[in-house]
Amino acid sequence: MEVVITWTAEDAARVVADVVMRLVAERPAAVLGLATGTSPLGAYRLLIEEHRARKVFFAAARAVLLDEYIGLPPDHPEAYRAVIRREFTDHVDLAPDRLHGPDVWADDLPAACARYDRLLAELGGVDLQLLGIGTDGHLGFNEPGSSLRSRTRVKTLTTATRADNARFFASPDEVPHHVVTQGLGTITDARHVLLVATGKPKAEPVARAVEGPLAAVCPASVLQLHPHATVVLDEAAAAGLQLADYYREAYAGKPSWQHL
Ligand code: GLP
Repeated sequence: MEVVITWTAEDAARVVADVVMRLVAERPAAVLGLATGTSPLGAYRLLIEEHRARKVFFAAARAVLLDEYIGLPPDHPEAYRAVIRREFTDHVDLAPDRLHGPDVWADDLPAACARYDRLLAELGGVDLQLLGIGTDGHLGFNEPGSSLRSRTRVKTLTTATRADNARFFASPDEVPHHVVTQGLGTITDARHVLLVATGKPKAEPVARAVEGPLAAVCPASVLQLHPHATVVLDEAAAAGLQLADYYREAYAGKPSWQHL
């Protein structure tokens, strides 16, 4: 696992944006796995700026969602498809029909989940999956206890995750109880997985994910098994790492493209 520790959240966003830009330059038809939450927002903003400066183009790329709430109307502003469009894809040249997500409005949800996994395979697999981490160590919406090989499926959110996400809704009661999420097996099928985490509340889950035991109680620890996993942190989120000095030394002063 490559652990890159940057000074600030802004520096972390730059590293992430550079990885996306390099991928899309090399492979314009790349499949990008996009995550919601606050963690990737800085990178999305930089990518929008770079697109406006005509330094990166997404017209031939595709984007796929990591997860989606069940029960929100499709035009709800907090439905993850709407969030990703508002925060990123509508501001670059990625057409809405090139953004894919699980069909949480289908009558038969297990069939829709299986269809989504098939779609990801038909697209040729995900080239780069961006990820945040929940304070309980979740990836996507794979809550603690998730099978490390799980596929896309319906999950029930924990009280802690619903409380974390209540800030996006008018009242905590409006946060859906159920979601469809790519499974941990689905996520780790991506050729490169990149987790970005910033701020003090992420220090503990990051330490468990990166240096703790591989265990379903910390779903993000599954990244330890991935042959190409990158974790981009600011100093606050790196505060719990035993090997922080080693990571700082290993990546000191190198432009991100040299080591990622
Ligand atoms: C949600 C999303 C996750 C995200 C997590 C952390 O639960 N489903 O994909 O990683 O929130 O969010 P944030 O980046 O806002 O801390």
